[in-house]
Amino acid sequence: MNEVLVATQHQRVLSGMRPTGLLHLGHYHGVLKNWVSLQHQYECFFFVADWHALTTHYEDTGIIAESVWEMVIDWLAAGVDPGDATLFIQSQVPEHAELHLLLSMITPLGWLERVPSYKDQQEKLRERDLATYGFLGYPLLQSADILTYKAGLVPVGEDQVAHVELTREVARRFNHLYGREPGFEEKAEAAIRKMGKKYGKLYRGFRRRYQEQGEVEAREKGRALLEAQQNLSLGDQERLFGFLEGAGRVILPEPQPLLSHASKMPGLDGQKMSKSYGNTISLREEPAAVEKKLRTMPTDPARVRRNDPGTPAKCPVWQLHQIYSDEDTQKWVREGCQSAGIGCLDCKQPVIDAVLVEQAPIRERAEEYRARPEAVRGIIADGSEKARDLARETLQEVREVMGLDYS
Ligand code: TRP
Ligand code: SF4
Repeated sequence: MNEVLVATQHQRVLSGMRPTGLLHLGHYHGVLKNWVSLQHQYECFFFVADWHALTTHYEDTGIIAESVWEMVIDWLAAGVDPGDATLFIQSQVPEHAELHLLLSMITPLGWLERVPSYKDQQEKLRERDLATYGFLGYPLLQSADILTYKAGLVPVGEDQVAHVELTREVARRFNHLYGREPGFEEKAEAAIRKMGKKYGKLYRGFRRRYQEQGEVEAREKGRALLEAQQNLSLGDQERLFGFLEGAGRVILPEPQPLLSHASKMPGLDGQKMSKSYGNTISLREEPAAVEKKLRTMPTDPARVRRNDPGTPAKCPVWQLHQIYSDEDTQKWVREGCQSAGIGCLDCKQPVIDAVLVEQAPIRERAEEYRARPEAVRGIIADGSEKARDLARETLQEVREVMGLDYS
């Protein structure tokens, strides 16, 4: 098998969602479907970011408590499988807070002030006072989430890429400050010998090619080789990751953003579906309400009367057809709209049907989970415990390298 492929499959995936209200079809198409497919490919951790919700909703925490369990139910109903992925709640793993605090000591204020979402969100959410310490630290708390699990891949939307970038900078700084150890080179050499002749030689080759020629592919192959080594301790593996790049020990690895290829889910008005635009259909919306919302949604304004021809490109319904309809139906829409052969209600019917078909099993599964709240709590309790075990390991290591392990 290709070595680079091995490396990616070993990566851990982590992502979180803020519990600030009901999930809608935008979350489903933009995030949840992606999680469902990732859970089969990687070791996945998905969590409820309740502390992140608190940074903006500290005055009305009720909505957070209400949304936490409904959100987990939405995940499960959408097909996120606790047998494949670990599901947990951020605040049940207090190590996130400890790492956030420790990282805050080494994070320059300017790095946080220049994250674009900081000013953007303050502007957008003017009715809230977001001139708080907690809100400034929002992306750093996210860094702590990611680094607690040493996640390699972080599925996020475009707006969150800057947060992953900050995480990479913070991890680099941490490793630079605390990854130095006396006798690093000797320890690295000893670790290479533990890999045996054949792999040791391969590793040295990749290292030389990366350091002398800057071949990124050689670095990736070197990493894959290290990940596949069964008889290296964690410490040795970290040394050799660092040695590969000509740096010290890599305690907190730098993650990569994983942008989903899902097209943006349009809302009822053609803008991106978002709670703040009031253009959503919730994931478990009642069929009658779905039908009403779609029937009354705006169309190409040029089609005032039934006989007026229209232009699909100017119509938000067309955007929904692009998500929900096959090629034949799309052709029927294009031709029927441009020739005024079909009316707008005719045109909307296949979309209404498709949304209802998509939601039916989700709504049904959600009802099953709602009827068994103790099962949902059990899933989260198990997941939080599993997450905590990993988090404890990372924090123990972090305390050690920072010289805070007084035992
Ligand atoms: N900030 C993310 C959002 O608003 C949620 C989040 C919190 C997150 N912590 C994370 C996403 C860690 C990925 C990884 O969507
Ligand atoms: Fe929109 Fe369809 Fe009406 Fe054309 S026929 S304006 S695509 S709803």
